[in-house]
Amino acid sequence: MMVDIYPNYVNGEWITTEETITSQNPATGDTVGQCSSATPELVDEAVTAAEDAFDEWSQQSHIDRAEYLWDIYMELRERTDELGQLVTRECGKEISEGRADVVEAYHMVEWAASDSRRPRGDIVPSEIASKDSYMRRKPKGVIGCITPWNFPIAIPFWQIAVSLVEGNTVVWKPSEYTPVCGHEIAQMFDDSGIPDGVFNMVHGEGEPVGESIVRDDRVNVIQFTGSAEVGWFVDEVVGGTPGRSNICEMGGKNGMVITDDCDLDIALHSAVMASFKTTGQRCVSTERLIVHDSVYDEFRDLFVDLAEQVRVGDPLDEATFMGPLASSQQYEKVTEYNELARSDTNTTVLLDRESVEVDDEFSDGHWVGPFIYEIDEYDSDIQLLNEETFGPHVALIRYEGDIERGLEIHNDTDYGLSGSIISENYRELNYFRDHAEIGLAYANLPCIGAEVQLPFGGVKKSGAGFPSARSVIEAVTDRTAWTVNNSKDINLAQGLSTDITTKREESN
Ligand code: UN1
Repeated sequence: MMVDIYPNYVNGEWITTEETITSQNPATGDTVGQCSSATPELVDEAVTAAEDAFDEWSQQSHIDRAEYLWDIYMELRERTDELGQLVTRECGKEISEGRADVVEAYHMVEWAASDSRRPRGDIVPSEIASKDSYMRRKPKGVIGCITPWNFPIAIPFWQIAVSLVEGNTVVWKPSEYTPVCGHEIAQMFDDSGIPDGVFNMVHGEGEPVGESIVRDDRVNVIQFTGSAEVGWFVDEVVGGTPGRSNICEMGGKNGMVITDDCDLDIALHSAVMASFKTTGQRCVSTERLIVHDSVYDEFRDLFVDLAEQVRVGDPLDEATFMGPLASSQQYEKVTEYNELARSDTNTTVLLDRESVEVDDEFSDGHWVGPFIYEIDEYDSDIQLLNEETFGPHVALIRYEGDIERGLEIHNDTDYGLSGSIISENYRELNYFRDHAEIGLAYANLPCIGAEVQLPFGGVKKSGAGFPSARSVIEAVTDRTAWTVNNSKDINLAQGLSTDITTKREESN
């Protein structure tokens, strides 16, 4: 079978190299496409192109720069169904999620492009009436973007859209598992007529392609979404180099606290969504359900019952709830953690749908169903509760006492991305809001489904400081404090004397 080879996009040119990477449909094992993997030399060219394009691009107005994105916004809206299917074919998410990925992408583009007409900075008061002070923003320069396979259309736009409107130029590496989605995005930028070098895309694996971007000192900011292991490596390379910074969104071991004051229907619905939607492959998915003793048995039985029923299968079928895992690597990882739970003497497995029966056409897919286990005796050091599985693998943990104890267990992890509380009691909700060590906190909801007009990011091991989505502006701009004196006299704040005394005056 002939398959297309998707090229790299550097300085306005489509460039093919000798190495290729094959992208496979995780449901069927079929080839979705082959892409041409960039060499470190090509990454170097892309960074040079982005650097050269920066001056002219940064001198355009925000509104002019946003014009290119409005074209892309229209295209994403018009092609939502078609691109949603591509997302599903390339990363295995069921079709409503495939479409939602595209919708989230155009929401981000809409946010970034319309923000071009909003004020961006502050007029700041001064102690000195004749001084005018402002906070103004300037683009940082070349932004390196490295994005994951689980949101192959949305997350690239989280990183790229605001960066461009603010006047930066971009070198982007899409995930090697979803290069065809990457290609569609690059094609949109090419069609938009954006000046050569402003937007560049290089395909390939983290090593050497991602690493070449990260190690290039001409790249001022690295935006990375992916595993904590890689994110903290990026932070180590980039951090401490003057003029460079990074914004890393990493995983979580997210918890949901279900209190004795909960509405059980909400608890059940939220837990199934947060544990199994996207086959557990959101960085905001939950893998720890922390349930109060008084509702534990009832919740456990309902949860296991419903998880036993959820439909796992063809992700292009509208009736499917869970598609396959995204890759054989994912399959290995998730099944290893399932095995660890089976063999751990401190756990009881409640539901094990690891083997899934599928039709012949799906026999090469990476299928697993929900896996639920309970912890017999809670302990901080249980390996299963400290490592992110990134699959439909979830622990039930019983807690006794008040919300403080529930929160103590919730916060007992190095990660801090997302979490939720299920309770009808406003004091418990507020306690969670104020004490949960996370960047995304939900009440009476699953801990997934953030919208782009909120900051998106974590604390502790889950985030390196700057949240993304709406907050990307903080990472891709420098702030200048600009102060103008309107008087002929020099007057300074803090009561500082501006008299210049001379030797002659001293001797008088
Ligand atoms: C991710 O989990 O990798 O909040 C991104 C959500 C989505 C984004 C998730 N808007 O569930």
